[in-house]
Amino acid sequence: MADDMLWLGFHLDEKGKRTDKKFEISQDLLRRHGGVFGSTGSGKTVLSKVILEEAALKGIPIIAFDPQGDIASLMLPGDPKELEKKGVPPERLKKYMDKVVVRVYTPASSKGLAISINPLKLPDKNADPDDIVRLMDNSARTLTKVLMKVGGLSRSWEAKSFAVIYELLRNIWESEQDLGGLGDLANMLVAPVEEIGVDLEPFMKESERQTLATRIRTLTVGSSQLLFKEEGQIDFDELTQPVQGKTPINVIFLKTLRSEEEKHFFISIVLNQLYSWMLKQGYQEDPRMILFQDEAAPFIPAGMKAPGPKETFLLLFRQARKYGVECLIATQSPKDIDYKAFEQFNTIASGRISSDQSLKVLERILEPIAGEKESEEIISMLPGQQTASFIFSSADLKPKVNHIGVRWLLTNHITLTEKDVQQHMKELRKQQEKILKEMEKERLKREKEEEERKKKLAEERKKAADAKKREEERRKAEEEKRRKEEEARKAKEKELAAKKAKFAKAKDEEPVFDTKGKADAVSYDDLVNGFIARIERIASTTFGLPFLRELIKRGQLHYEKALSYYLKETREAIKQGLARKEKIEIEKRGKKKKVMYIIYDFEHVLNQVIQSMGIKEPEYVDEKRLKKRFEELVRTAKKNSFLERIALGQPFLEF
Ligand SMILES: Nc1ncnc2c1ncn2[C@@H]1O[C@H](COP(=O)(O)OP(=O)(O)O)[C@@H](O)[C@H]1O
Ligand SMILES: [Mg+2]
Repeated sequence: MADDMLWLGFHLDEKGKRTDKKFEISQDLLRRHGGVFGSTGSGKTVLSKVILEEAALKGIPIIAFDPQGDIASLMLPGDPKELEKKGVPPERLKKYMDKVVVRVYTPASSKGLAISINPLKLPDKNADPDDIVRLMDNSARTLTKVLMKVGGLSRSWEAKSFAVIYELLRNIWESEQDLGGLGDLANMLVAPVEEIGVDLEPFMKESERQTLATRIRTLTVGSSQLLFKEEGQIDFDELTQPVQGKTPINVIFLKTLRSEEEKHFFISIVLNQLYSWMLKQGYQEDPRMILFQDEAAPFIPAGMKAPGPKETFLLLFRQARKYGVECLIATQSPKDIDYKAFEQFNTIASGRISSDQSLKVLERILEPIAGEKESEEIISMLPGQQTASFIFSSADLKPKVNHIGVRWLLTNHITLTEKDVQQHMKELRKQQEKILKEMEKERLKREKEEEERKKKLAEERKKAADAKKREEERRKAEEEKRRKEEEARKAKEKELAAKKAKFAKAKDEEPVFDTKGKADAVSYDDLVNGFIARIERIASTTFGLPFLRELIKRGQLHYEKALSYYLKETREAIKQGLARKEKIEIEKRGKKKKVMYIIYDFEHVLNQVIQSMGIKEPEYVDEKRLKKRFEELVRTAKKNSFLERIALGQPFLEF
């Protein structure tokens, strides 16, 4: 699931330049533990812290040992602007601040949060018998070691001190007695057999037990006492529990422990308790927590040296994955770490390293993970690695080898002193609040902008919708208008057709044409008679017969000709509406020219008749029918009638 991915950085191109492609790993990848290697300043701590930031963002609690003071700065939020510049969205910082709480514990110091240990923590009643022995053994061994290192116990006393402490612890555990602190233990060492129920004499003489008890008591005074106080005793339930919904990153600041021995001792007790807590939790697939040890070499040294934490570390590496406890270590010198540790490591990030010895060891570590050829190649590249560039290889990754540039940290990467821790813990809240406020302001601003943008968009959309609506309405109205027009047109057509039919069917003598004014309706015969009357009237005042004959025959006369013979008649004909002038194009000696003609056409004269009779619907007058009727009348005209005279060619007018 993409949601389980930890974003560690960006892939690098062949030239070692950062690309935009994110490099992410599954949160389960560290189940088989991770090692980060690189010389000082190569960016190990930064990479490790990026992993911690990411894991905590995913809700995995962290316990980190901070030997140098630069892990504690995980509590200092970075500058959102700078983050943006470095390609990390500032929202991630906000999420980190919302979801993660960083607690810095300062053992043996009251500057940070209190943390103390109980070296005498006894195993759970229901624990596995092997584990019981192992835990008790570990407690006794650790206490013996601390007594030698811090309590001034002589080295020659180691074996017998271990034996007597072990025996006492075993007895206390078996008889289910209460064991308070170290003071109790010291008292029990010298108490009578009847009181404690076990004879310690075979393991150590009473006088020697007195000395041992004194040594143990020294641990309960001075600076050491802070370590073993009843209050603030380390409690893994509490360390892994979310705080007000926030995932805890617990940084254990080791610089407050004055000597290496104290550190070893402290770490080993913490690890022991982690181990027994882990067993109590039972198996778990999902990551339950991450344990991080920076600069791990002194705590898991190569060779026969066996400081307190080494055995427990190795034990954890072997067992922890079953319980969902993921281990992450960083070191500048893999050669200084016990090689057995790496048999359990499946994921290795290698930064710049130039020491031949370290490279040789690293090659051996990498071989089973990345392959023989690949690890040789990786090794050859390591001396030239840039700061914060790593070759990230894992047997559980595809591809197994990745060249990455570590992403910028969400938090400041600085080294803190004990005093810084004190101050920062106080200021942390203030600062966090300020940054949160700023981010909130920024968020509100963005929200407002977004709102405005949305409003504008909505307005534009509404405008567009309105315009569309209007257009739709307009279109509908137009359509309606067209429909109505079409309807009207059709109605009219129908009406016209009916009329046409009516006029067409009308008999010649039937008065079908309405006239304007008060006159009666008119029939086809009336029209023909009107036509004849008009010609008669005009002819009576104007034309001679040859002209009329010509008129009937041709319908038109050349204007000039008409002028030369019948100038008067022609003028009169036009005046009376019997003829009309029109320019007509003719060809004369191969040339085209327009000449004025006087036209005597039937239609024209008829129109004059129709107009003068005031017919209301002249378009329905069937001219062809009239013409035919007229010709018929001419043909069947009685002798001496006007028409006959026209037809016979006799003059009816004399000039
Ligand atoms: N916030 C940050 N995020 C990423 N890299 C950083 C950041 N601050 C500093 N660095 C780079 O990391 C380098 C130090 O790396 P570091 O992890 O401390 O080295 P080491 O390998 O010794 O642990 C610095 O020199 C700097 O270039
Ligand atoms: Mg470092």
